[in-house]
Amino acid sequence: MKPSTDTATAVPTKQFFVSMLTRDIKLEDAILDLIDNCLDGALRLGNGGKPDYSRYLVKITLAKDHFSIEDNCGGIPREVAKNYAFKMGREPNDNRDSDTETIGMYGVGMKRAIFKMGRNAIVKTRHDKDGNQDTYEVPITAAWLDAANWDPLPINEPTEAKEKLNAPGTRIYVTDLNEGVARHFANPAFVNEVTTAISQHFTMFLHWGFKIEINGESVKPVHVEVLVSPREDGPAPYVFRKTSGDVTVSITVGLNTSRRAEGDDNEDDADFAGQRASATAGWTVLCNDRAVIVGDKSRLTGWGDLPLVPLYHPQFAVITGIIEFRAKDAKKLPVTTTKRALDASSELWLESLVKMKEGMRVWISYTNDWKNHPRSDQQSYWQDAQPLPLSKAIEAVAARKTAKTSSAIDEAGGDVETVEFNPKKNNVLPKPEEKKPSSKRIVFSRPVEEVRAVSKMLFDDPDVNAGTVGDECFKIQLELAKPSKKRRS
Ligand SMILES: Nc1ncnc2c1ncn2[C@@H]1O[C@H](COP(=O)(O)OP(=O)(O)OP(=O)(O)O)[C@@H](O)[C@H]1O
Ligand SMILES: [Mg+2]
Repeated sequence: MKPSTDTATAVPTKQFFVSMLTRDIKLEDAILDLIDNCLDGALRLGNGGKPDYSRYLVKITLAKDHFSIEDNCGGIPREVAKNYAFKMGREPNDNRDSDTETIGMYGVGMKRAIFKMGRNAIVKTRHDKDGNQDTYEVPITAAWLDAANWDPLPINEPTEAKEKLNAPGTRIYVTDLNEGVARHFANPAFVNEVTTAISQHFTMFLHWGFKIEINGESVKPVHVEVLVSPREDGPAPYVFRKTSGDVTVSITVGLNTSRRAEGDDNEDDADFAGQRASATAGWTVLCNDRAVIVGDKSRLTGWGDLPLVPLYHPQFAVITGIIEFRAKDAKKLPVTTTKRALDASSELWLESLVKMKEGMRVWISYTNDWKNHPRSDQQSYWQDAQPLPLSKAIEAVAARKTAKTSSAIDEAGGDVETVEFNPKKNNVLPKPEEKKPSSKRIVFSRPVEEVRAVSKMLFDDPDVNAGTVGDECFKIQLELAKPSKKRRS
């Protein structure tokens, strides 16, 4: 055989490409992808360190005839737009972000979100460099989508001052919404769903002051925190952190500030340490600060992995686990290609699960030990404990003298640093007094007049609190029930 001048065309058709690209992504995830880009933009402005997130804002509008997202996160440099940003897929030589913990890795998120939503879009951006402002826009039109060829997209310059953006940032405006999309955007339930997804997924950034608004309402973060006492011998969460090469895994498992779980016998209104009663029980998994999973209580995170860990049930609603993976190379994170789910088959995840279960075990035993004791008995131990997010909790616990730290070299010759703290082994958890018989709570109702009558008889006052009256009645009967008294009577 020898080559001829004939060739067989082997490029994807646009229609096929667009339908494949958008098929498996949910509309809300496509929107989260666009927010990821804003955060990556802010991170690039941080020059390798953590930026001051409180300076950044994203405004999203979901309307029945358009979608828009606007940020002040630095914009897209013109060179990046020309060579990378509008390509479908990242070039292997694109190592722009090798020094930052950005989450962008495939080079599709922005385009996929636009195609998912509608048929006409304009990406307008302003990036400033060396004191020079540069605003331009890139339209993606229905005509371009329908054309058979893959012509490059135009870059349009502003002709009037008012067409320029006021600050460095990016604005994406999508019209000709696809039918299902317009319906979703007009539906308040969908807007709520997106808001919840954002408050969970970007909880860390929102805590750090990053602002996200949807249709004018700012999104509040969920709380994922564990209680830590500042005392060296006070109760603290289980902690494990390992840095190996450029990947850091941090784990903490502890008590949250939730009220006692539903269906618990010892119903008691007070929270641990009297803290606010907001909590996220179960496991939260963070990857480069994005919460990939929030409050998982399934087999995925080890619950029900018998015999070590029982299935989740309300007794464990006070337990919160947080695990975080950080890597400059986002491909090393155990996330699926959508970045909203865990890649549970990854070696890194399976290895971490062993430590997660070790941490869960501590608190499963703890809640078992305290199962038949009123919560108020534990409260004094937890009084000074503060709810802290993962990094602060680890910092606080790692500073204790009893925390174990070690450095080693792995097989590949890389440094491995670990920090470990097991509150059970270190004896910092309160134990119920063994001698004390376990208690049961008695609750019953009687007509007000009857309670007042008994109160008057016992205390010569009809208005003593009903609980005290009931308690006194019980004490009288108890005296009678004691064997010695019985004999006498
Ligand atoms: N809001 C934004 N601010 C700054 N730069 C942006 C913004 N949106 C997109 N970009 C630029 O456009 C590029 C392409 O974005 P896109 O989401 O398509 O891919 P990616 O983020 O590189 O990878 P992934 O597909 O994993 O998200 C980004 O790498 C970034 O340089
Ligand atoms: Mg992206």
